Amino acid sequence: MAKSVRALSEYTKEYNERFQTMMDHGLKSREDNYKQEMADILRLGVSKKPRVLAIGSGNGEVDQFVINTLLDTYDDIHYCVVEPASSPLNDFKRLIQSYENRWNSVTFDFHEEGINEYLAEGGASENFDLIHAFHSVYFFRDAGSVLSQLYGMLRHDGMLFIKVAAGAIEKWYLQRAKISNIFFPHSCQVQELSSRELPSITMEITCRPYTMNITECFNENSEDGNKMLDFINQKLDYRRSTPLKQVEYCLHFLRDECSEVRNDEILFLLVDDDIVVRKV
Ligand SMILES: C[S@@+](CC[C@H](N)C(=O)[O-])C[C@H]1O[C@@H](n2cnc3c(N)ncnc32)[C@H](O)[C@@H]1O
Repeated sequence: MAKSVRALSEYTKEYNERFQTMMDHGLKSREDNYKQEMADILRLGVSKKPRVLAIGSGNGEVDQFVINTLLDTYDDIHYCVVEPASSPLNDFKRLIQSYENRWNSVTFDFHEEGINEYLAEGGASENFDLIHAFHSVYFFRDAGSVLSQLYGMLRHDGMLFIKVAAGAIEKWYLQRAKISNIFFPHSCQVQELSSRELPSITMEITCRPYTMNITECFNENSEDGNKMLDFINQKLDYRRSTPLKQVEYCLHFLRDECSEVRNDEILFLLVDDDIVVRKV
């Protein structure tokens, strides 16, 4: 009999394990062009010491591209990180040690909590030149209100930079919403919320396609495959807690509607949307 359904986001350790499995199977390839992307996007209208708010940084692997890009222009940076999971935060602190010479002019301020808690505890009165949320907006409670508060915290000429899933993942969430009424914000919804909640703004959206290999999801005995299915569905133990017919439907949809099959490999056609809002 199917076991009860558990939201993956409530199991921090398991969530991060599954995220790493996704990275190992190709999710990490999205970072191939980050150096150039950051250089193209991160033009801040500030002359010195930018203040940055990083939301849901995980282990800081992506933040390092932000920090290194800003260090090409600025000598002094204030970098505030809001991340509820302690294990990746410790990895982030180790990453800082590995950059000890290059990053010694960066002042870090870590908050081990979610963004809603940070804002409620006084964070909303802080001001920043750059606020970024890379693949973390999915976890904001009342995302519209959070986005509106974040926009209000931007200094003049500041930038809100959100990375959010589109492509295959978005297609599956939209399909799943039709059959199971589950809400999980993706690119269209974040764009809609931003247009509705933020004062008349201009949004720049850049789509960045890449693929990851989900072949192992189709082998029910594969540990990695089952972890990827958990992540894709944001459910812990998805295969065992979901009725067989639904699992089969999901697998067919992922393969036939969201992937390209090449030499027996099933390549998930992912897209990251970069949504950039500048405060003028
Ligand atoms: C998909 S990972 C993204 C990590 C990294 N930013 C990246 O792009 O690779 C999502 C991150 O958001 C964090 N997170 C979960 N709930 C959050 C919340 N309420 N506020 C802020 N971050 C949250 C998770 O712990 C995790 O590190």
